[in-house]
Amino acid sequence: MGAWSSTLEGLSIFTAKKLLRECIEWLSADAAPGARQAGLVTAAIAISARYRRVGRYWDPHLECTRAFLATEAAACAQRRTAVMLGAGACLDVPLKTLAATFDRVILVDAVFLRRTRRWVRQFPNVECLTYDLTESLGLLNKPEQPDLFAQLAAVRPRLLLDDAQVDFVASVNLVSQLPLLPMRRLLASGRYAAPAVNQLGLQLMAGHVRYLNAFTGRKAIVFDAEMWRLSPEGERREVVDLRPVLQLPHPPEQHWFWEVAPASELRSGKLMHRVEAVAW
Ligand SMILES: C[S@@+](CC[C@H](N)C(=O)[O-])C[C@H]1O[C@@H](n2cnc3c(N)ncnc32)[C@H](O)[C@@H]1O
Repeated sequence: MGAWSSTLEGLSIFTAKKLLRECIEWLSADAAPGARQAGLVTAAIAISARYRRVGRYWDPHLECTRAFLATEAAACAQRRTAVMLGAGACLDVPLKTLAATFDRVILVDAVFLRRTRRWVRQFPNVECLTYDLTESLGLLNKPEQPDLFAQLAAVRPRLLLDDAQVDFVASVNLVSQLPLLPMRRLLASGRYAAPAVNQLGLQLMAGHVRYLNAFTGRKAIVFDAEMWRLSPEGERREVVDLRPVLQLPHPPEQHWFWEVAPASELRSGKLMHRVEAVAW
C-alpha cells in the first residue's frame, strides 16, 4: 500500500485521471476470445488516445473513407444488411448513412470500447459483433503450440458468409492491422525466425481478402497500400507495399495519403500511408 500510494503521489492529477480512465476503458471493453491477451484492447485505447492528440491529421483520411463507403453503399441494388469489418471506434464508418439506408448494419471488430457500444445504441438497427476475424488469435497466443504454422494455414474464417441478406460488406482500414500484434508476439517468443513470421503475416492478410471475396453481395476494401517513414529531409524510408500480397480484383477507384504519425508523435520524421479504396 505504501509503495502504491507514494507512486500515486508522484503522478500529476492529470496523469492519474488519465490512467484511471484507461484502466476503466480496458476493463469495460468487449473483446473476442484471445483479443485482450493479444494486446488488442490496449491498442484500441491507444488509437483513441492518438486520435485525441493528432485527429486533425487523420480527419481528411477518415472523411475520404466514410465518403467512399457511403458511395459504394448507395450503389447497392438491395439494402438489407451491411457489414463493416474492423469497425472499431467507427471513426471511418458512415454509420448514420448506413443505418438510414440499410435494414440492418452489423459492425464487426475484435474489440468494442464501452463508449462505442453506447454511441451505437442510438441506432436501433445497428449491432456490434465482437469477433476475431482471423479466427486465429487463440492459436497465435500460444507460440509454444506444436505445428502452429500448419494449424494456422488451415484456418478459413466464415463469419456471415452463409447470410444471404448481406448486400454490402466492407473491410475498413483493417487488413494491415491483422498481423501486427500477433507477429510481434511470435517474434518475442524467440521460437520463430523473422522470415517465417513475416510469411505468416502475409498469409493472414491474403486470407482476409479471400474471406471478403467469398461474400456474394457488393464488396469494398479501404486499406494501407503502402506505408513508409518520411525522414526530416522528406526522404522515404522503410517502404512496405501490400498490394502484391492482397491481389485485389482491379486497381483502386480512389487513393489518398494519410499522415498517421506527424512529427510531434515521433523522435524524427513522420509515418505516412498511401490508402487505396477498391470495390467490386
Ligand atoms: C486501424 S483500426 C480501424 C479503424 C476503425 N475502423 C475505427 O474507425 O476506429 C483497425 C481495427 O482492426 C481491429 N482488429 C485487429 N485485429 C483484429 C482481428 N483479428 N479481428 C477483428 N478485428 C481486428 C482493431 O480492433 C481495430 O479496431
